[in-house]
Amino acid sequence: ITVAVSGSGGKAVHPLQYGLMFEDINHSGDGGMQNRAFQGTSSIFPWTAVGGASLTLGTTSPAISSALSKSVAINGAANATVGLSNPGWWGIEVKLQAYTGSFYVMGDYSGSFTAQLKSSSGAVLASASISSNSKTRTWTKHTFTLTPSTKALDVKNTFVLTFTPINSSQTLNFNLISLFPPTYNNRPNGMRIELMEALKAMNPSFLRLPGGNNVEGNKSPNHWKWSQTIGDLTQRPGRSGTWGYYNTDGLGLVEYMHWCQDLNMEPVLAFPAGLYLDGTIVSQSALQALVNDAMNELEFLMGDSSTIYGKLRVDLGYDDPFPIKYVEIGNEDNLNKGQSSYNSYRYSMFYNAIIAKYPNMEIIASTRALSPQPGKTIQDDHEYNTPDAFAAEFNTFDSVSTSHKILVGEYAAVQANLKTGANTDWGKPFQSYPWWIGAVSEAIFELGGEKNADKVIGFCYAPLLQNINSHQWHPDLISFSADTSQTALSTSYQQIKLFSINRMTTVLPLTNSASYGPAYWVAGVNNNSNTYIFKSAVYNTSSSIPFQLTFPGQTSGATAQLTIMTAPNAYSSVTPGGSNPVTTNTQTITTTSSGFNFSLPQWSIAVLTMKGS
Ligand code: AHR
Repeated sequence: ITVAVSGSGGKAVHPLQYGLMFEDINHSGDGGMQNRAFQGTSSIFPWTAVGGASLTLGTTSPAISSALSKSVAINGAANATVGLSNPGWWGIEVKLQAYTGSFYVMGDYSGSFTAQLKSSSGAVLASASISSNSKTRTWTKHTFTLTPSTKALDVKNTFVLTFTPINSSQTLNFNLISLFPPTYNNRPNGMRIELMEALKAMNPSFLRLPGGNNVEGNKSPNHWKWSQTIGDLTQRPGRSGTWGYYNTDGLGLVEYMHWCQDLNMEPVLAFPAGLYLDGTIVSQSALQALVNDAMNELEFLMGDSSTIYGKLRVDLGYDDPFPIKYVEIGNEDNLNKGQSSYNSYRYSMFYNAIIAKYPNMEIIASTRALSPQPGKTIQDDHEYNTPDAFAAEFNTFDSVSTSHKILVGEYAAVQANLKTGANTDWGKPFQSYPWWIGAVSEAIFELGGEKNADKVIGFCYAPLLQNINSHQWHPDLISFSADTSQTALSTSYQQIKLFSINRMTTVLPLTNSASYGPAYWVAGVNNNSNTYIFKSAVYNTSSSIPFQLTFPGQTSGATAQLTIMTAPNAYSSVTPGGSNPVTTNTQTITTTSSGFNFSLPQWSIAVLTMKGS
């Protein structure tokens, strides 16, 4: 195939292009200690008693806060060592690093508490003594640091908190018992370092948050509420999440903003828009409250201290605003009989209010079927499909009008091809982990978007994260557990990373000697680095595809870097703790008089770069 890249014309590539989508699914938003504040539960699980203690979950007067009504009362024999123990989120990894913890106590106690990390055999891995002068009717915060002197052999470790009652009638109440390993950039309530490093390596430009279905809520009025996710942890009630478990909301709105700052990502902030997953639709008269809430959220993030919610942010310690340029109204509002109300009033009520106050805001509709569509609207397109279907979508954006910008806010190859060209059968199982054929097909879909740079502003795979111990959806981009050595960066992760770190600023016109399929390609230039870029994917061929490529101004003897990603076969996956089957091979090639000559093998993804003169 001969490909000649033109030196003129072309389409500017949107600065978002590749990003991340996060929602609290698959226990991906959990942190601290499991059931640390007894939110939304009548159970003390997984806490267990230590030293014959009696543990009783109940309410106290006063409670630690109106947000956290329950706490655990601990009572035990005089002079015994009593307390409680927690196995973490399906394990605690104990390494030679400092763990920071805290807990609140109410009850008369002058003495000390002991916080420990213990192995499954009972060996003490780290211990701290915390002196206390706790009082009745007052909740007192205690903080401590645990510094293990030895690394645990596995993650079957527990966190143990004990004290010594002076008599058997002494009862102390505990709440918000939390422990964190070091976090990325040392953020309070922060993120796991190795996961953030993996995400940063993808070079993402945006974070779509906080969902997905999780922004909508299963039923009224259980949508995501920004104002209940901010401030001190004692002020966060948490919420019955969409995915069958309680969201602690320790990862809240400000933590999302810090995540964006730390990875240099633009927030794409979604608002609940009056559609619940059970099909309940908020009436036009009642919707104004949700619109007001969205406006208050924007004021919280961007207002100065002369505004009510801007002052709230400043009072919480965040003087600088968190600028928001992109917002999304709802999620998948075409589903659950939401389209008609979305078209008739739900979208426009949000749109009009936001544009009136923030005329430059980029506003995203959660469905392609919005009608009528105000001029500035971007449409969010979700695609969960088979590899064959993704590969066939290389041209899917060609027919979209240039007035319809598109954000592919969720996509993933989720199911093996059942028969040639068939779409996903939602009644049949999905892949456990992304696999190579899926990654190659997603690459073709992305190339179709890159080719239509004037229409497609960005891509983000979904779901992003999966705790392998308890999850509701697969496949996912990154799988993790308490054991950081098990973290699996999927085949799709590796493919997206390759394309995302090699960004064009302009996609250029091409002259091709052959039509697309089984090889697909785009080319362009990055004007910032003065680099010409060619990207390709090869899907389902019986032999390698030879290319002869020329860039504008290519001189005799010019060299290029050619990176080819392959896997042993189309069904290779990265599994937790398994080896990485994806091979990334980079070589320098030199042009001949006819151009750069190279061959791309079956099931491959490639990027070729040449520095401009
Ligand atoms: O990514 C999983 C789910 O798929 C999202 O919550 C929802 O938006 C989509 O249907």
